Amino acid sequence: MRKPYQIWRDRRGRLSPLRITTLAALLVPVAIAVHAYATTGFGARPLNDLIHRTGYWCLIFLAASLAVTPLRAIARYGALIDVRRMLGVGAFAYAAAHLALYVADQRYDLGKVASEIALRLYLTIGFTAWLGMAALAVTSTDAMVRRLGAVRWRRLHQIVYVVSLLALIHFFQQTKADVSVPVFVAGLFVWLAGYRLIAARRHARGPLPTALIAALTFGAALLTFAGEAIGIAIAYRVSPLTVLRSAFDFSFDIRPGWYVLAAGLAVTLIDLLRAAFAAQPRATAADQAGSASSGGRSFVPRQRP
Ligand code: HEM
Repeated sequence: MRKPYQIWRDRRGRLSPLRITTLAALLVPVAIAVHAYATTGFGARPLNDLIHRTGYWCLIFLAASLAVTPLRAIARYGALIDVRRMLGVGAFAYAAAHLALYVADQRYDLGKVASEIALRLYLTIGFTAWLGMAALAVTSTDAMVRRLGAVRWRRLHQIVYVVSLLALIHFFQQTKADVSVPVFVAGLFVWLAGYRLIAARRHARGPLPTALIAALTFGAALLTFAGEAIGIAIAYRVSPLTVLRSAFDFSFDIRPGWYVLAAGLAVTLIDLLRAAFAAQPRATAADQAGSASSGGRSFVPRQRP
């Protein structure tokens, strides 16, 4: 039997390459930060630098946890469900570090922290997202799933979409000049939420048809281009069409809409390849049962054998 802390082992106690890889991925931002510290340092405001790093990676791992459900269906790789909870709890660990660093930046003056959260809208929104993530993390254990019951637990975990939206708004609000990164992350969330909505409407348990995945990809990319163009047009009082036209000028930089398109097309390609080469889906009967009962969850505990 595996010990509770041995998260690199699967439920049967065997070493799990998938879990080890996920754990390594969750630690990559720490390695990047250590490398930055050793080479360039964290700049004039080291705590602020770390606040930015943790906030960014929290959002990335949140997106990764949401990507598990579509990816396991599209890649016909049911075992992926095993790391969804790990990614979700990992995202919360970065959120916890983010808040702790903010408290440290305020010299541990909790009264000041509370009043800043109450007075600054972007912090109020960030803190609301944080509370939502805390609720998801606390209820991610098997014991909590049993206590809440599957239906109530699943309903509670649907707040992950509200949490993501609030976190994105917080990201946009505190980004001063270049909004490319938040726009790109927002585009990814549009794709993920879109997939979930379409799959729910069609009661789909397996992958969506390839044409739909491709259409969703083009839709998410177009929304990303349009959203960015409208945002820039409002901020700088220029025509959104001028901004849209500049998306085809690759000499300056590549607009986030293209990255969203590339990511979606990569997923579409995975679907095509898996459909062509895997006549038999790789998901086991147990995985199928897991998928049926875990439909819209984010931090999903693995299914019992
Ligand atoms: C789950 C909740 C949260 C998420 C996902 C999140 C995410 C982020 C992201 C992505 C950034 C920008 C990183 C970058 O520029 O690369 C950021 C910045 C920041 N966040 Fe959060 N955040 C959350 C909650 C909070 C909370 C609760 C606080 C404090 C009460 C907070 C305070 C800040 C501050 C101070 C900054 C930097 C602002 C600046 O330099 O002007 N965040 N956050």
